[in-house]
Amino acid sequence: MKARVTANAAYAVADIDKRLYGSFLEHLGRAVYTGIYEPGHPQADAEGMRKDVIELVRALDTPICRYPGGNFVSAYNWEDGIGPKENRPRRLDLAWRTTEPNLVGIHEFADWAEKAGTEMMLAVNLGSRGLDEARAFVEYVNHPGGSYWSDLRARNGRTQPWNCRLWCLGNEMDGPWQVGHKLASEYGHLANETAKALRGLDPTVELVVCGSSHSNMPTYPQWEATVLEATYEQVDYISLHMYFENYEKNTAEYLALPAKLDRYIGTVAGIIDYVKAKTRSKRDVKISFDEWNVWYHQRQRDAERMRAWDWPEAPRLLEDIYNFEDVLQVGCIINTFIRRSDIVRIACIAQLVNVIAPIMTDPGGGAWRQTIYWPFMLASRHGRGTALQLAVEVPTYDAAAADKVPWLDIAGVHNSNAGTLTFFAINRHGSETIEADVALERFAAKSIEHTIIRHDDLEACNTKDAPDTVSPVKGNGAALSSKGMTLKLPPHSYSMVRVTL
Ligand code: AHR
Repeated sequence: MKARVTANAAYAVADIDKRLYGSFLEHLGRAVYTGIYEPGHPQADAEGMRKDVIELVRALDTPICRYPGGNFVSAYNWEDGIGPKENRPRRLDLAWRTTEPNLVGIHEFADWAEKAGTEMMLAVNLGSRGLDEARAFVEYVNHPGGSYWSDLRARNGRTQPWNCRLWCLGNEMDGPWQVGHKLASEYGHLANETAKALRGLDPTVELVVCGSSHSNMPTYPQWEATVLEATYEQVDYISLHMYFENYEKNTAEYLALPAKLDRYIGTVAGIIDYVKAKTRSKRDVKISFDEWNVWYHQRQRDAERMRAWDWPEAPRLLEDIYNFEDVLQVGCIINTFIRRSDIVRIACIAQLVNVIAPIMTDPGGGAWRQTIYWPFMLASRHGRGTALQLAVEVPTYDAAAADKVPWLDIAGVHNSNAGTLTFFAINRHGSETIEADVALERFAAKSIEHTIIRHDDLEACNTKDAPDTVSPVKGNGAALSSKGMTLKLPPHSYSMVRVTL
């Protein structure tokens, strides 16, 4: 199959916010306990944090990590996680029907984030709690000193404020499964009042208001319009979430789902414009896509297990084992965010460790990279700079999610500081190689490098015993040409092509 692509240095979408490569860690299953925190593990540091996990997170170079939830935050008392560990309460977590020992709280997470080379994106509980607890939390985390909560922080061992910039005003408040679920009008009012108070306390915070949990919600897209009309002057981002499934085991249909993601982003961008016009505002609200990933491998089994269990502590939950097909999907999802980086400024892979995650651990044992670790890492490390508006001509197919899905999914990023031009390309076709002529206009290419992820078996996984089954290798499908470059992308493959300028 032939394709033609044109990249022109002058045709830019936006300068990518590095927070497009954010991540998420929730008190859920083994994400925290036996994930990042396991005192007594041979790799644990003095604070009980696993150094092997920190190393894998550092290599991902994820600039922000959302915490502590997720559904968990909607019934969480952040004060349970401060002070001497022996005094912290054990609580029943209503979101996942587990027992939360509160051995990790804001101090431990903040220390871990620093070690892992990431910044905190914190969520306040607007489900079971409200404005007052939210303002206390922000005061505890960000106020320099001389007030009740900031002095308590100092007594608990941290004199300097953490100055967390990004705050989520609750989580998925449109979802009936949420503790303290709200109507759009109720939530909009509460979020606006909370935002005013938080900004009053710390004018430097950036606030994220909840949009829809996914685009199949019955309240979507009216939820976005109502909530934004109530909060437009006080918030900076609207949060969207989407998880990808392939229960039918149909690869072409599965890989067409990012077209639905693209439509979701486009619709919400339109609603933002509508509310901006309606409120006669000068401000710009952007999208924080702060939960996205493949999530279906264990989902039905988990739901049955959860119904039957008796408040276990750190059970195996949402431990999806990813395969090679998911590498292609994650590549297409990230490409969608790059192409929409003018409006999607923040995105968080959900989640980071053990729970629908790129990193897995064994309690007392090793840590390894799932298949999806690789496309995320390559994009996070090499997808920084200016997103390019590429012109792509390639045959398409019709799918349930959308018509005219291109067999080639490609995104391009120009980093003028580093002098690089990087393309992320996925061949969605299962039997045809894509031969692409790529015109590079107003770029002077010097050299080219091809990295490829491919496996004959779409279901191939990385396990603790075979951790490198699916991993990137040097490819030989990219060459410079008189007009730019040529690419040969094998069927069902993920490629990163880096041009030095
Ligand atoms: O990431 C898993 C869960 O998915 C989160 O807790 C929730 O926000 C979403 O429904």
